[in-house]
Amino acid sequence: MSTTVDKYFELVDQHQQKFIETLREVVAIPSVSSDASRRGEVVRMGEWLQARWEALGATCKRVDPGKQDLHGLELDLPPVILGQYGNDANKKTVLVYGHYDVQPALLEDGWDTDPFTLVETADGRLVGRGSTDDKGPVLGWLLCAETHKQAGLDFPVNLKFCFEGMEESGSEGLDDIIVAEADKWFKGTDVVCISDNYWLGTSKPCLTHGLRGVSYFHLQVEGPGADLHSGVFGGTVHEPMIDLVHLLSTLVDPNGRIKVPGIYDQVMPETEEEERSYEGLEFSHSALAGDLKRDVIIHSDERMTLKHRWRFPTLSIHGVEGAFYAPGDKTVIPARVRGKFSLRTVPNMEPARVAELVTKYLNDEFAKLGSKNVMKVIESHGGRWWYSSPNHPNFVAAARATERVYGVTPDLTREGGSIPVTLTFEENLRVNVLLLPMGAADDGAHSINEKIDKRNYIQGIKLLGAYLHEIAVTDLTA
Ligand code: BES
Ligand code: MN
Ligand code: MN
Repeated sequence: MSTTVDKYFELVDQHQQKFIETLREVVAIPSVSSDASRRGEVVRMGEWLQARWEALGATCKRVDPGKQDLHGLELDLPPVILGQYGNDANKKTVLVYGHYDVQPALLEDGWDTDPFTLVETADGRLVGRGSTDDKGPVLGWLLCAETHKQAGLDFPVNLKFCFEGMEESGSEGLDDIIVAEADKWFKGTDVVCISDNYWLGTSKPCLTHGLRGVSYFHLQVEGPGADLHSGVFGGTVHEPMIDLVHLLSTLVDPNGRIKVPGIYDQVMPETEEEERSYEGLEFSHSALAGDLKRDVIIHSDERMTLKHRWRFPTLSIHGVEGAFYAPGDKTVIPARVRGKFSLRTVPNMEPARVAELVTKYLNDEFAKLGSKNVMKVIESHGGRWWYSSPNHPNFVAAARATERVYGVTPDLTREGGSIPVTLTFEENLRVNVLLLPMGAADDGAHSINEKIDKRNYIQGIKLLGAYLHEIAVTDLTA
């Protein structure tokens, strides 16, 4: 194995510039899943991947999950690209998942450069929307396989893949496909690996064994039939926006404490083993404050910061639909407003229970206002948390691969973000799932100037390959 892996590493180093050009090519496809006008680009990105894998000799199956109803507009959902690369009964089978859609991005949002033109900076950043989330990692698997083939190196495993184009918009349709294909396309899968998260810091790699879930809500308050003049009607009607602001303020306090009664009751108790797992992690208050450009961190204790990211639920308020938001002044009373908020959920919270507690609480709080408006709580989408043991041989193989590439033992982490399909794979394929990140903590996924460091991209391509080679020689039943 040693000589093949060394040869592979050497080839990756030689082809760095070519790999960056490939990233440039895919960043230029603005596959924004939440934007109806970009749906064609999302599809184009899926087709790009399929064509490239097929050119390599993979067998692909394009699954079209059907239609999406986007605010009354009917849209085709982008394809899920299933693939199989190699089919050798003597090799293990690894299933990899990633998403080829990205978050929206506009130059006006504050980007220094056009978000869909990859820019390589002097300090080694590859800046562009999707560079780290999740086009870099998705390309990593492809470039790994291409590099092996071109050099005539034996590919160590049978690879199956599942690439979707709706992850940033709730993975609509994907769960059903995974359930339907569990004993078909995905049959024979030994382990799953997902590269769609980030290191805890910027220098030490990690393996990840937990994700939070998400329960997203719309809180609608409806009043008069149309917007009103505040000079004429202010003080004489119940204003939807005033009710909404009151209700939103009852959800969470400024220190992040959720005020919904009972919400913490299902949170998993802390154990000594967990307490020990926070020791020695590459995480510092000052580095985090630096990434944030201002120290707005609630907790002074680093461990508490991590606990509030990983093991406690949190509630965030995202925006208000229907409210006046443009620059300048407008003396209007909005007739109908919708507040958007979500909870990140943790072991052992049940989404149905969360929805019940939130809805009951908001109904009670609304009743206290004595308003004649009409209030409604709508649960718009959800995803369950995932928590697994990092002791499985899948993690051991990934740790060995990390040591080969980076020369250090990776941290074991959990994440505050969500990838709901992780649990779907685990439950339906009944195999171990590993999260193996490529990018770093300061990559700015979803933010302006999203980047992946050239170092992480190139070493990450090595890492994914080294991991497959380690899996090939690991006893997965141990
Ligand atoms: N790559 C992220 C998931 C993630 C975020 C992992 C932060 C680790 C840290 C993924 O693309 C994402 O953004 N997920 C959404 C899921 C949601 C739409 C259900 C999220 O977490 O908001
Ligand atoms: Mn992602
Ligand atoms: Mn994302």
